[in-house]
Amino acid sequence: MYKSEQLANSLKRLIQNGTWKFHEKLPSLRQQANQSGFSLITVMNAYQSLEAQGLIYSKEKSGYFVAGPKASAADPLDLTINDHIEINSIVFKYLKSTQSDQIIPFGSAFPDSQLLYSPKLIQTMGQLARQKRSYDQTPSLPPGHFALRQWIAQRYCMQGIQTDPSDIVITSGGLDALNLSLQALTQPGDYILLQATIFYGAWQAAERLGLKVISIPEHPEDGIDLEAFEQAVQNYPIKVCLLMLNSQNPIGYTVSDENKYRLAKLLHDYQIQLIEDDVYEELYYGSKKPLPMKYFDQQNLVLHCSSFSKTLGAGFRIGWVHAGKFSESIQHLQLMSTLSVNSFIQNALTEYLSHRHYEKHLKTLRSALQRYKKQFYQYLKTQLPTSCKIHYYPSGYFLWIELPVQINSLSIYEGLIQQNIGIAPSILFNTLEDQQHHIRINCSFELNDQLREALNQLVVLIKQLE
Ligand SMILES: Cc1ncc(COP(=O)(O)O)c(C=O)c1O
Repeated sequence: MYKSEQLANSLKRLIQNGTWKFHEKLPSLRQQANQSGFSLITVMNAYQSLEAQGLIYSKEKSGYFVAGPKASAADPLDLTINDHIEINSIVFKYLKSTQSDQIIPFGSAFPDSQLLYSPKLIQTMGQLARQKRSYDQTPSLPPGHFALRQWIAQRYCMQGIQTDPSDIVITSGGLDALNLSLQALTQPGDYILLQATIFYGAWQAAERLGLKVISIPEHPEDGIDLEAFEQAVQNYPIKVCLLMLNSQNPIGYTVSDENKYRLAKLLHDYQIQLIEDDVYEELYYGSKKPLPMKYFDQQNLVLHCSSFSKTLGAGFRIGWVHAGKFSESIQHLQLMSTLSVNSFIQNALTEYLSHRHYEKHLKTLRSALQRYKKQFYQYLKTQLPTSCKIHYYPSGYFLWIELPVQINSLSIYEGLIQQNIGIAPSILFNTLEDQQHHIRINCSFELNDQLREALNQLVVLIKQLE
């Protein structure tokens, strides 16, 4: 027997006895050669033989995958399986490197702090700080201050989502809300579903909890690919998904109500829980706030997470989850981790929100973001080579730029950071090797000469690498 046949047979057994699951990624040719001790050529021949038998399939630039019952070599599912996420160190390194005040913050995840600054909130905090009774150092236990939860519940009701303050749990920001929700609904080793390109916090949460991730590709028009979603939940034991559908970070799209309705139906049909990340919910430009998935949820399948980080400041660390029947289990987890959310800030926010200053602040913030994002878009449109595509959506403060496929966005990041210019490369949002040619630009700043010059440097670098 040829060595390649010998190897192919032993790999075949691993597939047939379920050691390797459907659509699981096989070790790369080089890894397999190292592991098995066979030469690269032998491994290549073995993989080709398995592919010819329809037992595995290849995806361009992504490698080989185990073929599933519905997926033949001719019709592979466009899903990616990640059973060992390792993104935290990359995110850590990146966040550290962009932290300095000297760096032009095109890579920042937060809007310009000048836009978030609310004199009324600071005034309220000052007044509260001077009251002796506000110096209460007893931690407020979960689920957080009643008056704040009541204000949040009223806001859901205004959107037609019947909500009681007891449905809400106050958390230390939106990320804490996402982490607690995911922890409440999963066990290590479970499969969850994510969008292929999504906020790194979702990947970090999956890494922290030891979850396996099935990711679905973006749909070019609709944002979310519901066909891929259905294929994924049909083929994998997925019980939980974590998605962002409004002003999606990093790409920026907002999924239509029609598709949200269709997604809600799929969640219902397959009994899948959704953790909805909606921290940009207030940053729409039109006259109507986009509906969250929670609106379409008839069965308490959606946990809706949001925060004040993108509207008042991430430093306050106040977020929440509309947890419904999971409120109690999330509170139990809080009791074992963060315990409570800063009581003074909860009080100050409640006081501030009760005077309707927030609506005025949001209006000013939205209109500035709309103006600045347009300025960035128009400038970059005239400067970037035509081989680049700018994804522009009317909400939030990010532009997602697709570079020519041969440019790895990490090279752009590394080239610019030496000049004290930050950008967010796609490696922070997407784990696929063939999707590393995108960058996210934060446009929440008035476009002055210094920023224009920094954008020019970006354009120069892209042209050099084109
Ligand atoms: C999409 C998304 N979700 C959640 C978060 C976390 O929000 P918070 O700062 O409230 O924890 C962020 C922060 O950048 C984000 O961009």
